[in-house]
Amino acid sequence: MGFDQYHEPPEELPAETRTFARLCASLTEEAEAIGWYEQRLAVEPNPLARAVMQNAVGEEFKHFSMDLEYLLRRTPVWREVAERVLFQPGDIVEHGEAAEAAVEGGEDDDGGGSAGDSLGIGSLKGRER
Ligand SMILES: [Fe+2]
Repeated sequence: MGFDQYHEPPEELPAETRTFARLCASLTEEAEAIGWYEQRLAVEPNPLARAVMQNAVGEEFKHFSMDLEYLLRRTPVWREVAERVLFQPGDIVEHGEAAEAAVEGGEDDDGGGSAGDSLGIGSLKGRER
């Protein structure tokens, strides 16, 4: 196993940052596994093998969800955005833009407009983690 989730010398990083990086790496790995199982299931004809892989991909999605929840608990502003995007009916992109505008402006989600061309990275970085 490598240590490539770090882009700075690990010994210089605070423990909290190393934990955060581990969970980010885990989230990525779970998403990769879900994609791999999706491809395998698309081509596997054996019903028993398919059942095993269906079970496995469900586990990977559970792991993905737990990793995401950890990251959202750690970073409240991300949770604010996620709450305005996840499990919402309608246009995903519109919800994303409205969430960004609401978080940047401290406004309620009115479903309208965006904050110009900004991706909100600067303002999100400045918010409490
Ligand atoms: Fe997993």
